[in-house]
Amino acid sequence: MTTIEPSESFQIPIEAAEAYEAAFVPAFFAQWAPILCGAAHVTAGQRVLDVACGTGIVARTAADLIGAGNVVGVDLNEAMLTVARRVRPDIDWRQGDAASLPFEDGAFDTVLCQMALMFFPDRVEALQQMARVAAPGGTVAILVPTSLDAQPAYGPFVDMATQHAGTDARSLLSTYFACGDVDDLARSFEKAGLPSPTTGTHLGTARFPSVEALVATEVDSTPLGERITANMRDEILDGARTVLAPFTIADGSLEAPFEVHVVTAHRP
Ligand SMILES: C[S@@+](CC[C@H](N)C(=O)[O-])C[C@H]1O[C@@H](n2cnc3c(N)ncnc32)[C@H](O)[C@@H]1O
Repeated sequence: MTTIEPSESFQIPIEAAEAYEAAFVPAFFAQWAPILCGAAHVTAGQRVLDVACGTGIVARTAADLIGAGNVVGVDLNEAMLTVARRVRPDIDWRQGDAASLPFEDGAFDTVLCQMALMFFPDRVEALQQMARVAAPGGTVAILVPTSLDAQPAYGPFVDMATQHAGTDARSLLSTYFACGDVDDLARSFEKAGLPSPTTGTHLGTARFPSVEALVATEVDSTPLGERITANMRDEILDGARTVLAPFTIADGSLEAPFEVHVVTAHRP
């Protein structure tokens, strides 16, 4: 996963956006884009919007399917967009907030949002915006991690970190999984004017070169890293080696199973 979280989502340094594209997109984010585009039935002739596009993996995947001219990516963060423009200058990248998308009503046939809904302060408002910019009969599709309780590797990891660093650790490490209740997600769609959503669950993999690299990403590079003592950090690393042992392969790298929900609905 990554360190792009709400408190820092407005502006991050370009180096962080380049590191996201170089390390986290291939190791984690790229695998979900074909699943999301498939669930939304992205097909030629559609106009597609990627909301909270980051460096643009979903928009790029859609562009490979239907042509870059019909795809737009929007994100709050200029550094992410700078990287997106460098990688795929042929796609239209815009700066904007999911809470007030800078597009006309009904401008897109398909509106996609991958690994970001949990960061929006008002999720129903963001879904309303996605519904607004979708054409009547158009599709809104989102992809988010399932709840921590359902995560085979991150669940035990966060339980262990909580034992060593207290309940603060749990709340700090839980942001990513905050949209994990699929019934809540379905209710949010209904409230946003997107009736009868379809939900599905998929299992993928979070890859890290080592358990140390996971702790560096999930603890050291997050607000939790500043709040714990060196001793707690050592205990978390030792504990991580134990709870993640089933997912550590012969060369020491980690292949942690990771579960996501995909929710799709049509604008009436
Ligand atoms: C974990 S990244 C996911 C990026 C991309 N969808 C992907 O799958 O690689 C979350 C993204 O949400 C963006 N973001 C957070 N809050 C936002 C908001 N209110 N409006 C637009 N983008 C937002 C961040 O800038 C970041 O690029």
